[in-house]
Amino acid sequence: MPTSATRTIPWVIEQQTAVKHQLLRSYIATWMNILWQQQERLRQSPHLIYVDGFSGPGEYWSTEKRDSKVDGSPILVGKVANELMRGQRKLDIIAFDTDKRTVDHLAPLLAGINTKQQVWEVGHEDFSAGAKGLINKLAGRLGPDYPAFFFIDPFGYSDFPMTLLAEILKARRTEVFITFMTYDIVRFMGKPDAEKKMIQLFGTADYKSFTQSNTPEERVNFVTTLYRRQLLSIAKAKNVIGFRINTPGQEGRARYFLFHASNHIKALKEMKNAMDRTSDQEFKFEAIGVGEGDQLDLFVATPEAQIKAALLGYVERAPKSRVEYSRIEDWGYERTSGVARHIKAALIDLEREDIIKIERKPKQKKNTVVEGAIITFVRNLL
Ligand SMILES: C[S@@+](CC[C@H](N)C(=O)[O-])C[C@H]1O[C@@H](n2cnc3c(N)ncnc32)[C@H](O)[C@@H]1O
Repeated sequence: MPTSATRTIPWVIEQQTAVKHQLLRSYIATWMNILWQQQERLRQSPHLIYVDGFSGPGEYWSTEKRDSKVDGSPILVGKVANELMRGQRKLDIIAFDTDKRTVDHLAPLLAGINTKQQVWEVGHEDFSAGAKGLINKLAGRLGPDYPAFFFIDPFGYSDFPMTLLAEILKARRTEVFITFMTYDIVRFMGKPDAEKKMIQLFGTADYKSFTQSNTPEERVNFVTTLYRRQLLSIAKAKNVIGFRINTPGQEGRARYFLFHASNHIKALKEMKNAMDRTSDQEFKFEAIGVGEGDQLDLFVATPEAQIKAALLGYVERAPKSRVEYSRIEDWGYERTSGVARHIKAALIDLEREDIIKIERKPKQKKNTVVEGAIITFVRNLL
């Protein structure tokens, strides 16, 4: 089978790459709109940074027939920016790739769509080396708190060490979006020659405890839970969400997950909303919630069922407590697989079952629950 080094460019797109692009396109448009508007409101210069750490050639063949093409990540982001850019708005695009053929393919494509004279650059460079220089330059030019989005989309699991992610996320308005190749990681993590790369990936040798998990499914759960823990504790991200990309025939073993790490709950919520908008039946994203002992909950029935179960646990621990709806919504986005509509449906169900009471503000509709409503956990189930 041809490898990435021998395949001719462009490559034929795989379906899971196409759905990943749908999610990126949907989220990046929201990200640009929210942050540019915020900067404009605060009378700051509306200036954002998009870094494509493993950029690829910028386009793919749509099918094996090779008669039509679709955009790769840096080009699709450039096109979204062109649509949303007006006035003083700026978006820098900085792309890195170690393959010269890829860089030579991408550079003219990116220049060709740069109709608004932006700083759009392609570096023939290793991501970790390039990123270190870049973040120093950005901090020097834009101050320590520049808003940036890093897309980290390698073929494998090396060259984006946890220590580098910690450096990147020091800029508090920066987000990272990472392709995490669970299938390969689980396959290779027991091999002695993978040890150095694994320690860099996780930022700890704790990954070696995978031997306590027996099945491949348990090992996927183990590595994704550990990766999330490390993004929170070592890279010091405040909010981390994992998505499983489901592909036909995977039988419980997804080839990869996506992780989004940020320092703001709003970023996590918008990313999950983007996922909710782009999920389709065959290749479905699934947001993964967090269960007992901070283990990722990989096998939940439905988001509503997971939210109800978690809320019932809360009622048992803290009966009669009063909580404003937004706090439950933030919690639900962070800890469960659901988004607002699932959280609301679970609460309405619990209200019907007389387990909670919802005090709505005047004019708030009975069949829903919105910001400002107070939830009282009335029934002690113990
Ligand atoms: C999965 S492809 C990227 C696809 C692209 N992000 C997209 O969505 O269209 C991974 C790319 O990473 C490049 N690459 C491999 N190792 C790298 C490294 N250490 N630094 C930067 N790029 C690297 C490969 O040449 C390849 O083009």
